[in-house]
Amino acid sequence: MKKIGIIGSGIVAKTLGDGFIKHGHEVMLGSRTASKIQPWKEHAGDKAHIGTPAEAAKFGDIVVLAVKGSAAAEVIEEAGPQNMRIKTVIDTTNPIADAAPENGVLKFFTNNDESLMERLQTQFPEIHFVKAFNSIGAPLMVNPSMKEKPSMFICGNNENAKKEVTDILDTFGWEIEDMGKDTAARAIEPLCMLWCIPGMLNGQWSHAFKLMRK
Ligand SMILES: NC(=O)c1ccc[n+]([C@@H]2O[C@H](COP(=O)([O-])OP(=O)(O)OC[C@H]3O[C@@H](n4cnc5c(N)ncnc54)[C@H](OP(=O)(O)O)[C@@H]3O)[C@@H](O)[C@H]2O)c1
Repeated sequence: MKKIGIIGSGIVAKTLGDGFIKHGHEVMLGSRTASKIQPWKEHAGDKAHIGTPAEAAKFGDIVVLAVKGSAAAEVIEEAGPQNMRIKTVIDTTNPIADAAPENGVLKFFTNNDESLMERLQTQFPEIHFVKAFNSIGAPLMVNPSMKEKPSMFICGNNENAKKEVTDILDTFGWEIEDMGKDTAARAIEPLCMLWCIPGMLNGQWSHAFKLMRK
């Protein structure tokens, strides 16, 4: 059993919160506005706690960052980078711009030669970021019911942190595809664009990626 601090109050934070509790962990969700997460605590049981982003960051042996991409750096500053120092931080965020999608394709505020996670890793070098969960819809994040085991693409600079995330993803029903250092987030973050296109164009949101091998 681990203590998981989740910074966020949206669907990703609550879904992963439920998932970690289902798998025996203790969870604190952190938001600037307690009323956004109070209802979650009421249904999630004894192992569910709520607090501020700083309290959730401090609580977690592992921290999950589940906030709007454009606010991610600001949120980490507010939560206190020292509260996440040398901890594994699972980065679920995507650099989605405020501009409307074009033909179902989301706009990003990053370009092909950078990623949000690299920006965060550079700004907060003592945090062990691991990208995960960014290119799958929240309802499918925990033990998705699929014909085959889907792939979760992860990356990050710290091997121990990736091992911790790999163990979690394994219990959450994923095949783990480690794509290497934080640079690989340049390829993993845009998978979110691809994942969303069938939803934006045809209302289909029940798919996941799988890396096939011979
Ligand atoms: N929705 C999905 O299915 C899905 C799937 C994969 C990845 N993602 C990614 O996961 C992340 C979370 O997604 P979501 O849909 O759960 O939530 P969201 O609506 O993208 O973000 C909500 C969270 O962002 C924080 N936030 C928003 N604006 C802020 C600001 N200006 N300053 C500080 N905090 C701010 C809020 O904090 P407070 O609680 O303090 O207000 C809240 O916790 C996003 O980066 C998204 O791209 C989403």
